[in-house]
Amino acid sequence: MATYPEMKNRAVAITGAAAGIGEVAARSFYQQGAHVYLLDIDQAGIEKIATELGERAHPIQVDITNPESVSETFKAIDRAGNGLDVFINCAGGYQKLLNVENMDLEEWDKTISLNLRAVFLCCQAAIPRLKKSKAGRIINVTSISGRTVHATSSPAYGSAKAGVTQLTRFLAYELGQYGITANTIAPLTTLTPRVAALRTPEDVAKIASQVPLGRLAVEDDHVSAMLYLASDGAAFVTGVALDTNGGRVML
Ligand SMILES: NC(=O)c1ccc[n+]([C@@H]2O[C@H](COP(=O)([O-])OP(=O)(O)OC[C@H]3O[C@@H](n4cnc5c(N)ncnc54)[C@H](O)[C@@H]3O)[C@@H](O)[C@H]2O)c1
Repeated sequence: MATYPEMKNRAVAITGAAAGIGEVAARSFYQQGAHVYLLDIDQAGIEKIATELGERAHPIQVDITNPESVSETFKAIDRAGNGLDVFINCAGGYQKLLNVENMDLEEWDKTISLNLRAVFLCCQAAIPRLKKSKAGRIINVTSISGRTVHATSSPAYGSAKAGVTQLTRFLAYELGQYGITANTIAPLTTLTPRVAALRTPEDVAKIASQVPLGRLAVEDDHVSAMLYLASDGAAFVTGVALDTNGGRVML
């Protein structure tokens, strides 16, 4: 992993930091010397990781679908006194794989709430804090499901992720005047512990065969892109959707 000395003592908040891509992001930004706010609904998970990491790791329990909980979380970030330089919306996902015709409204609303409304809530709260940073960054994690259509994804999830891509362009447009960038990364199926447990070797081989680079993603594929987008070298990159999906988006 590349090193970014400018990340030392910057303040980075990451939702979904208790597991998967968000956890690896939290550990990696910590290794770069940042203060890391681990935001997740899974309190035990973030506390365990923060204890392993050390004193620059700050676990804060949040339900990102709940506006009061989001508001309290940002007050806790303020109280910690390190400011806020980078906000990464990584929490997301969906429960049921249903097509449009069979989609129940509850699943639609829950999926839009977690994957789009929550990103809006967190970005809105982050903006006044990021304006005080000299290198403000928003990084939103979407999915190849929001970039192209394929049979094994949820229409609600794909629609929410596509919405995040467009929300991010608005953020880039509105916040450029403050030197704040806003970008997305769009992962492919990633061999996180959760996904690895769900997929058979045959599933993995089939997905890999549809990827120009011939494999599924690993967490570091996305985290290295996050580190770059957070870095000073990416200060003039904004409104971009970075396809960390091995070229699968082209097909
Ligand atoms: N893993 C993949 O294959 C894959 C592929 C494409 C996109 N993505 C996207 O990448 C991101 C991370 O995915 P992952 O698979 O690494 O995640 P994961 O499912 O392993 O972890 C998600 C984390 O979010 C937390 N969370 C869930 N609901 C929350 C809420 N309401 N408030 C706060 N925290 C909450 C969970 O507790 C968990 O720690 C997601 O946005 C996902 O849509 C993942």
